[in-house]
Amino acid sequence: MYQTKIAGLGKYVPENVVTNDDLSKLMDTNDEWITERTGIKERRHIKKGDGNTTATMGVKAAKVAIERSGISKDDIDLIVFATLSPDYYFPGCGVQVQEMLEIDTCPALDVRNQCSGFIYAVSVADQFIKTGMYNNVLVIGSENHSGGLDFTDRGRSVSVIFGDGAGAAVLTRSDHNGQGILSTHLHSEGKHALELSLKGPSTNYWVTEIIADNPQGEDIPYYPYMNGQFVFKNAIQRFSEVINEGLKENGLEVSDIDMLIPHQANLRISQFVQQKFKLADDQVYNNIQKYGNTTAASIPIALTEAWEEGKIKEGDIVVLAAFGSGFTWGSAIIKW
Ligand code: UT7
Repeated sequence: MYQTKIAGLGKYVPENVVTNDDLSKLMDTNDEWITERTGIKERRHIKKGDGNTTATMGVKAAKVAIERSGISKDDIDLIVFATLSPDYYFPGCGVQVQEMLEIDTCPALDVRNQCSGFIYAVSVADQFIKTGMYNNVLVIGSENHSGGLDFTDRGRSVSVIFGDGAGAAVLTRSDHNGQGILSTHLHSEGKHALELSLKGPSTNYWVTEIIADNPQGEDIPYYPYMNGQFVFKNAIQRFSEVINEGLKENGLEVSDIDMLIPHQANLRISQFVQQKFKLADDQVYNNIQKYGNTTAASIPIALTEAWEEGKIKEGDIVVLAAFGSGFTWGSAIIKW
């Protein structure tokens, strides 16, 4: 069996900064509520005409990751793209990236696991590298949330949380045994699928039906729905479980964690997990204050920033953990 390491990281966020005060001009909300409940101060939104889409942002992040990895884009054996907001219903963003990067017929697949998407994608990449099938896998998490949120009072509990952006990682075969991804842990619980969901447009909810069924625009299934408190409670429980599962698998203690990068769902969730594990402030990386919740992009953006700021050093134990719609959750334990 081979081992996988992260050879390069990159991120891209749109230039357009949207503050809590900006949102309060669109809906009945305010900086105090958003800051207190979520920790978010601002997020990035794609601006019409700025050329950004889920796929193009993914490409921008990927180019940085590829450059830093030192490999040529032509050496990429597989692209794994995680998103809940693809440019098209089909095909997925993976093939768009393959075309935009001008990589000759490498396989490309999309992962649809929402906030856990990046960890699922890393796990998929890790399996291909471990078994020796591929040497280099490009993993991308990218989201265009702002194009599909309800920016009226009706959608305020969801729309203030989410932001746009992309992160990417080049995963390659590690030269040193014991360095790289030590293990990944994935879970799902489909019975809660609709507690955090976007029902349509889909094969169950075509646009024509939605309009016919909702002439007054009530109960609109083409905006995301979230049972916030239920999701919050499950997130806290599952984050803790899946971090413990990863530590146990590798014979590690909480004290071995050098850096925890939680999916940036809500600062209160990250703080709860930090307190539960009694981690110091410099052992947990948060940037939700600047970007909001960018779903599949949140971990690769945070990982890239933590690395750029010199907060991750060779030999560190880095723990990635996520929870989100599905419900899905997962963790990755990495020796840097
Ligand atoms: O990444 C995927 C996983 N997602 C998560 O983990 C998110 C988990 N859930 C949460 O983060 C929180 O549940 C939220 C931040 C979404 C909401 O916080 P909450 O403390 O659960 O608030 P709530 O939904 O219970 O609403 C409390 C009050 C309500 O008013 P009343 O009924 O008490 O009068 C809401 O109408 O806050 C009101 N409210 C708002 N007020 C100002 C809801 N949204 C807003 C808003 N601005 N944007």
